[in-house]
Amino acid sequence: MCGIVGYIGEQEATPILVEGLKKLEYRGYDSAGVALYNDGNMDIFKIVGKLENLEGLTDKEKPKGTIGIGHTRWATHGKPSTPNSHPHTSTNGKFTVVHNGIIENYMQLKEELKAKGYEFKSETDTEVVPNLIQDNYDGDLEEAVRKTIEMLKGAYALVVLSTEEPEKLVTVREDSPLIIGLGEGEYFVASDIPAILKHTDEVYILDDGEMAVITRNGVELSTVTGNNVDKDVFKVDWDPGMAEKGGFDHFMLKEIHEQPEALRRSIAGRLNGDSVHFDNVNLTAKELEKYNKVYIIACGTAYYSGVVGKYAIEKLARIPVEVDVASEFRYREPLVDEKTLVIAVSQSGETADTLASLREARDRGAHVIAICNTVGSSIAREADDIIYLNAGPEIAVASTKAYITMLMCFYMLSIYLGKTKGLLEDDDSKKLISDLKRLPEQVEDIIENSTGTIKDLAKEYAKYEDAFYIGRLIDYAVALEGQLKLKEISYIHAEAYPAGELKHGPLALIEEGIPVVAVATQRSVIDKTLSNVKEVKARGGAVTGVVFEGEEDIEDLDYRIEIPGTSEILSAILAVVPLQLLSYYVAVQRGYDVDQPRNLAKSVTVE
Ligand code: G6P
Repeated sequence: MCGIVGYIGEQEATPILVEGLKKLEYRGYDSAGVALYNDGNMDIFKIVGKLENLEGLTDKEKPKGTIGIGHTRWATHGKPSTPNSHPHTSTNGKFTVVHNGIIENYMQLKEELKAKGYEFKSETDTEVVPNLIQDNYDGDLEEAVRKTIEMLKGAYALVVLSTEEPEKLVTVREDSPLIIGLGEGEYFVASDIPAILKHTDEVYILDDGEMAVITRNGVELSTVTGNNVDKDVFKVDWDPGMAEKGGFDHFMLKEIHEQPEALRRSIAGRLNGDSVHFDNVNLTAKELEKYNKVYIIACGTAYYSGVVGKYAIEKLARIPVEVDVASEFRYREPLVDEKTLVIAVSQSGETADTLASLREARDRGAHVIAICNTVGSSIAREADDIIYLNAGPEIAVASTKAYITMLMCFYMLSIYLGKTKGLLEDDDSKKLISDLKRLPEQVEDIIENSTGTIKDLAKEYAKYEDAFYIGRLIDYAVALEGQLKLKEISYIHAEAYPAGELKHGPLALIEEGIPVVAVATQRSVIDKTLSNVKEVKARGGAVTGVVFEGEEDIEDLDYRIEIPGTSEILSAILAVVPLQLLSYYVAVQRGYDVDQPRNLAKSVTVE
C-alpha cells in the first residue's frame, strides 16, 4: 500500500509531486508528505489526513526545488500521524526516504541503530532505512543504498534523496511496484502509471531486485547486486483523461459509466464467430486433459469474480473448480500439483497475498493463468499465461469496471476451455459469443434505465444499518459482490446468502423494513427463490428484486429492477450493475467519501 512519487528535472517539483500523489491517493490516504532539495537544504512538509491537507500546506509554504519525493500513506506500523508520515529522514538530516511496503526486520535493525546513537522520531518500520543509509554512506549514495538493501527483509519500493548528492534520485524495488516515467530532461518515479500519465507515456517498469539512479541526464538501471540492466521502454496506451473524473462527482460513478467501454475493450480481438482467442493462452485439448481441477485464487472483489468464474467454468467446461481467498490458500498447504490449472485474479497485479499464492502454486507445479488489469505488474509477469482485463485505470477503491471485465474474462475463458475440450457445440458457443457482444450495450441500458429507481431506493435503504443479499447459483455469486460494495463505501453491515440458506439462521435477523436484495435471474430455481422472497416479506423485509425483463414469476417485490435478456449463465455482468449503483447512491445519501472509504486502500501490497 502507500503511494510514492519522485521528480527530477527543470520544473518546480512540488505541484508535480502533489498532483502525482493525488492520482495515487487510492493506495492510501491517512497522511502525506513531500521533501524537496533546494539550495543546500532539504525542506520537508508532511501532514496527517488526506492529500487536500498537504495541498493546503504546500500552497501556503510554497516549497521550492526541482528535485523531490513524495508519499501518501496507508498506516501499517504506527498510527496515522504527522511524525509517522513520510518522507523520513536520517538522524543527521542528510538522507530522506519514501517507502511503500513493510520492512519485516525493522525492530532488530532499529535496536542496532539505537545502540550506535541513531535517533528515531516515528513508530514506523521505514525510519530504519534512511538511518541505515547514513550508517552505510561512505561518499557513494548508490553504494550506501545497495548495502542497506542487503540488510533489509520484507517488501519495499524506495526513493532516496540526499543533500550529500543532491543531483540524483536513487530508487529500488522488491515486491512493491515502481515505475520510472521518461520525459525530456526530466524523470518521474511513481508506484503506478496514473501518477505520471499527464507528463509522459514512456516508462520503465522496475523488476524485483532492480534499482535506478536518476539524474537530469538519464536513468541508469542495474540489479541490486551491481549488474547492468538493459530494459525496454514500455509505451502506455492509456489516454491521460482516463485517470481524471471527467465531470462525474466521483471516480466510482465514472467507472460504473465506463463499464460498457471497458467491456468492449476486453472483448476486442478475442471473439471470433463461435470461438474465443487469447494472445497469451494456448492450451491444447491434450494439455487440458492433464488438468483434473481448476483453482481460482484472489482477494476482495477479484475473489468474488472468481465465484462467478467457478459457475461458468464448471458449466461450460465441466472441470471442477475451487475458489479460494489468497490469504488462506497460501498458508494451508494447498492440494495443488502439475495436474492443477490455477487462475490468479487481480486488478492491480500487486496484491501481496495473491502474488504469494501464485508463487506457491507454481512451486507446486501448477500452470498459472493470471487475469489481471495492470500491464507489467508482478502477477502479470510471473504467471505462465496472462489474460489482460483491458479495463483501463481504475481509481475508486470500490472496484466496478475491473470486476465486470473480470467476469467477461471468465466467461471468455470458460467458452475457450469448453470449446477446446470439445464440450461446446458450435451453435452453443456462437449463441454465447453473440450474447457476450451485446452485453456492453445492455449495461449502458441498465445504467440509463435504472438509475432513477435506484436513487429512490437508496434513500430508503440508507436509513438502515443492516442489509441482506440473496440469490441462487450464479445469482448468489453476484449477491456476494453486491454486499461487499455496500459494506465498503456505505459502512452498512451487509451479508450475502444463498437464498436457500436463509432459513438456517439469517431469517432470524429479518425485521420490519430491513433491506433485502434478491437477485433472481436463474430460471431453473426461480420458484425456489420466490419462496425465499415470500419468507422475507412475511417477516417485514423490504425486498428489491433484480430480475430479467418480463419475469412474471417473481412477485411481491417492494422494488423491481429489470435487466435485459441474455443467456442465463451470462446474467452476472448485467445483474451486478444495479447493485453497484445502489451502493454508490446509498453512500452518497449517507454523505460518505465514496472514492476513499475509511480504513481501506485499493492496492494491498501488505499481508
Ligand atoms: C483491496 C481493494 C479491493 C480489491 C482487493 C483485491 O481490498 O480495496 O477493491 O478487490 O484489494 O485487489 P486486486 O488488485 O488484487 O484485484
